[in-house]
Amino acid sequence: MPLQKSVIEKIEKLRKEINEHDYRYYVLAEPVISDAEYDKLMTTLEELEKQYPELITPDSPTQRVSGEPTKKFPTVTHSVPMLSLSNSYTEEEVREFDRRVKSLLTDQSYKYVCELKFDGIAVSLKYIDGILKVGATRGDGTQGDNITNNLKTIRSIPLKLDTNNKALLDIEVRGEVFMKKDDFIRMNEEREVDGEKLFVNPRNSSAGTLKLQDPKIVAERPLNFYTYFLKAEKADLKNHSDCLKTLKQLKFPVNEFSRLCNNIDEVIEFWKEWQDKREALPYDIDGVVVKVDSLRQQDLLGAIAKSPRWAFAYKFTSRKAETKLNDIKLQVGRIGTITPVANLQPVFIGGTTVSRASLYNEDYIQELDIRIGDSVIVEKGGDVIPKVTEVIKEKRPANAKIFSFPSKCPECSSKIYRPESEVNYYCENTECPAQVKGRIMHWASRGAMDISGLGEAVVDRLVESKFIKNVADLYSLHTQKEKLAAIERWGEKSVQNLLDGIEVSKQKPYHRVLFALGIRHVGMGGAQILSTSYPSIKKLLSANKDELQNTYEIGPKIAESIERYFAEKHNINLINRLQAAGLNFEAEKLEGLPLSGKIFVLTGTLSSMAREEAKEKIEKLGGKVASSVSKNVNYLVVGADAGSKLEKAKKIGVEIIEEDEFLGMIKIT
Ligand code: IVH
Repeated sequence: MPLQKSVIEKIEKLRKEINEHDYRYYVLAEPVISDAEYDKLMTTLEELEKQYPELITPDSPTQRVSGEPTKKFPTVTHSVPMLSLSNSYTEEEVREFDRRVKSLLTDQSYKYVCELKFDGIAVSLKYIDGILKVGATRGDGTQGDNITNNLKTIRSIPLKLDTNNKALLDIEVRGEVFMKKDDFIRMNEEREVDGEKLFVNPRNSSAGTLKLQDPKIVAERPLNFYTYFLKAEKADLKNHSDCLKTLKQLKFPVNEFSRLCNNIDEVIEFWKEWQDKREALPYDIDGVVVKVDSLRQQDLLGAIAKSPRWAFAYKFTSRKAETKLNDIKLQVGRIGTITPVANLQPVFIGGTTVSRASLYNEDYIQELDIRIGDSVIVEKGGDVIPKVTEVIKEKRPANAKIFSFPSKCPECSSKIYRPESEVNYYCENTECPAQVKGRIMHWASRGAMDISGLGEAVVDRLVESKFIKNVADLYSLHTQKEKLAAIERWGEKSVQNLLDGIEVSKQKPYHRVLFALGIRHVGMGGAQILSTSYPSIKKLLSANKDELQNTYEIGPKIAESIERYFAEKHNINLINRLQAAGLNFEAEKLEGLPLSGKIFVLTGTLSSMAREEAKEKIEKLGGKVASSVSKNVNYLVVGADAGSKLEKAKKIGVEIIEEDEFLGMIKIT
């Protein structure tokens, strides 16, 4: 029986509609329907396709996650080589490049397009008859891997081109796959909780993700795409800036910050602007890319070796440097985690001297084959400690030493162990001085009890001279004031400051005390949630694992960890002593306060106060602060450079308030 025309039409209409909503959400960040409405469209389409499987086409939005895991990616030969760019680091080099362009173009006039240089992975997308057919990595420039199924999962990449222009149906598009900084951090946090290997930076995590053999896993990773190249042989495109415009019309994600520059001074100006503003972007860039605008002139200029003469990368002052790894030391954290740290030949990177860098864990050292004595590349990220990201094997000295984990804790000589499914080693001895110090430092830290005067050096002294063994001991220190003041070079005034700080900490609210205890997997957010559902330590103690697990946002990992913590007698003793000392183990009654029951999410940068301060103000007035936008949230407070949270809030209809309005709320209400 021939298929009803109406079914075909219905399917076509649904696909078009879904594509349009994907475009609005993932490219324009201006969604017009709710999640639920979107899901309904998708379900209707899925049901129809189930009924008429012969109508399923690879470009249907239901086919974003498709294909079975592959063992090896097939090879793709690029129609035109994917070139790399020559790099310039100084204004002089940039002017030199411009002089060469000028002389090669024998005094024709020319313009440049400046773009941001995204720190991601270059890919090519081939469309035939308007359908995405092949997606590939750059590989060696001539041949790359066919990763079509992985690239199809990126929702800002159209599977089908929305155009009637025949000249634009057979095209090649190139661009960069990348991960936003906050998505990367969130993903790594989740991996850490799950004991999985951490990624080094957003770029490596994009690279690692694109190499995955199972598109289902790729689909769960927050990949993004920007395109910066179009080859459309049948279209009459004259300039690179026209290509960008056309790409935009074809609904590809094109970065908004590219600029047409009339001369090299304007190029340098663009570079200077972004050198200063790069940190504020939600993704990493490592320079700007400068391209001669006219495609005819690009042809005239041609290429040398592997890079074109019509484009170059003007890199930012490097945040990477080469140095020597002198030694590997082990650090013992407050829960006994043993972390290897590189001692480096001091090197100047992006404004500071770096002499230590993280090596994460045993697997990381083995994977990169890092040895003591190696020359290594050290990278400084935006918000994390420096890390060793590469070994320069050619420079490896003959006496470079392989590092192996000892069997004993470097601090207390107890046995160390590595649980089967985890990447870390742990020291088993809870009395290990490093763990003791770590727990006290955590107790005193800013998000916890915030005790001024109780920094690392002071904690070291107090523990080493046996004044304290645990955090409860802090609250009887006042009885030993004279003895403390007698410690070498410790005046009465510093002692008094410390004791005052300790006294003030007794007023900190219950959820901070809960966080300060340092229960594994219970972060600031978790403690906040627990304090609402179990508003006293008594209630929390009497909850069993199942109950905990059923609490909103508390997973099995946290539940298990809480149960294990309370099963230890010395932890209960500690809590009893802290309670006796006057610390808060009960949540304040919040009903009747102006913001009672209201949930806020903060996003972007507030100009009047730090986020932590805003959070405290909200909590003081009875409100709560959540980390992500959901239907339960009442207000999203937006500061400058708000990101994806704003998009989501708009989409699901959470009330959005600007900083002024928020200030009014916390002052006047
Ligand atoms: S144009 C010949 N534009 O930089 C033209 N590349 O070193 C080459 N990249 O492999 C590409 N942002 O991964 C171009 N706006 C941009 C770019 C960009 C990042 C990367 C790309 C390329 C590498 C070249």
